Order: sequence, then structure tokens, then C-alpha cells
Amino acid sequence: MYVTVNGVRLACYQRGQGREPALLLVHGFPLDHRLWKAQLSGLASEAWVIAPDLRGFGRSELGTAPLTMEQHADDLAALLDCLGVARAVVAGLSMGGYITFAFWRRHPDRVRGLVLADTRAEPDTAVARAGRDAAAQRAREVGPAVFAEEMLSRLLPPSSLSNPKIVGAARDMMASQPVPGIVAALAGLRDRVDSRPILPAIRVPTLVLVGENDMLTPPSDAAAMAEAIPGARLVTILRAGHLSPLENPRAFNAALRTFLRRV
Ligand code: MLT
Repeated sequence: MYVTVNGVRLACYQRGQGREPALLLVHGFPLDHRLWKAQLSGLASEAWVIAPDLRGFGRSELGTAPLTMEQHADDLAALLDCLGVARAVVAGLSMGGYITFAFWRRHPDRVRGLVLADTRAEPDTAVARAGRDAAAQRAREVGPAVFAEEMLSRLLPPSSLSNPKIVGAARDMMASQPVPGIVAALAGLRDRVDSRPILPAIRVPTLVLVGENDMLTPPSDAAAMAEAIPGARLVTILRAGHLSPLENPRAFNAALRTFLRRV
């Protein structure tokens, strides 16, 4: 379905409509709802699974506002309004995790639980910020297909790179993202705030997930984040890198299922 929130039309995919709890899945960069294909199908008997394409990605419009984490968070709160969902378990991967932190800061009363997958609370370093600008320039020059190809080996460890199904799904998703969305998202990623100060004040059940071979947001970052959040549970997803829900959906869904029963 399509919903118009804050002036832009977002594509939203859902399964298990009306079930409790609602599970809002927030994809990373440069991805879309297809990251969550196995969660949409595998968790629909447990939850109302809601997976939008964020503004600028997939079949959603880009709009004119900067793609800040806060803008995405406000879009998601408006999306929940449209669906009639008061509170949801919010699960974000990587950039989706940064957005999940912004959602918690701005809309805490809408959060039933948090799932932070392959993400980190730290902001970008000066070097990383410069890297975002270089990446935006590169995306403009070479287009999404080459950009995707160049990212694949950083997102996926060798064990996943040798699996044509995983590589094909990741490549198709990344190569189809529009360049203006990629460029706008990189500016938002570059300028995101430090979420470390809010971690000790998180007061909802929280699950931290990380692929054992995640090179971008490694297990050590996930462990530090889980340590800082009161009562958070940390689960390492075996045989997975940065795209753990796609690489090992069985283990990812098992961890989520256990968590959903707890909240
Ligand atoms: C993502 O997967 O969303 C991005 O790699 C996040 C980032 O580059 O910080």
C-alpha cells in the first residue's frame, strides 16, 4: 500500500495486519523493505509486520526535506498513525538503527520495544564524514549499479559472498536505489547525532542483534551498546555479516520471535 506522510508518498508492505504486537522494520542504506523479506513472511503469525520503504528509497518518493534521521523517525510515527498503531516494537538495521534511536528520542510513547540490528550509537568520525561526501560524489559519477557492486564486499563476509542467492538479493536491492536518494541519505548519515547519551535512559525491552562477521558495525560495538542499555539482551547471529536478516533469516527470526513473546 501507499501512504502519504509529511508530504511524501511512502510504499509500505505489511503482513499479519491487526496482530499484537506491531513490529515496525526499518531498513538500512542503501536498501529498502526487501531487506526484510524473510521477516515479513516468517514473523506474520507472531506480529503485525510493517516494512516501509523510507523516503528516497525503493518505491517511496524523495520529497524536498533533508533526509535526517529525525525526518525518517517522524515519517514512521506518521505512518503508524495512518495504520492506527499506537505502539510498536521498532526494529532497525544499521541506518535503520540510527533512525530507531531518533524515533525513541522523539516518540518514546510509541515504542513497545527496541531491536537494534547491526548498528551503532556513535556518530561519524571526521574521517567517516569526509567518506560520506566522497561516497555521494562516487554515486553521482558511477550510478547505483557500480556503487552497489563496490559496497557488496564491505556489507557481506566471504561466506555470504559465495552464496549467489544472498549476493543476488543484496545486489538487486542496492542497484535499484535512485541516486538522489543515495546522495541525500549520505548527508543524513554524515550529520546524525551521537546516540550514546540516551542509551542508559532506555526503559523498554531491547534486543541487540549483530552478525558474527559484521565488518561495518562489529560485534564489539554491539556488545558495548547492549552493555549501556539497562536489561538489553545481545544475540550474535552466526554465519552473517552486516545484512544479518538476509544472510541468516532463520537465526534472526528465532531471536526476534523469542523477543516478541517477551514484550
Ligand atoms: C547501513 O547499512 O545502513 C549503512 O552502512 C550505515 C552506515 O554507513 O553507517
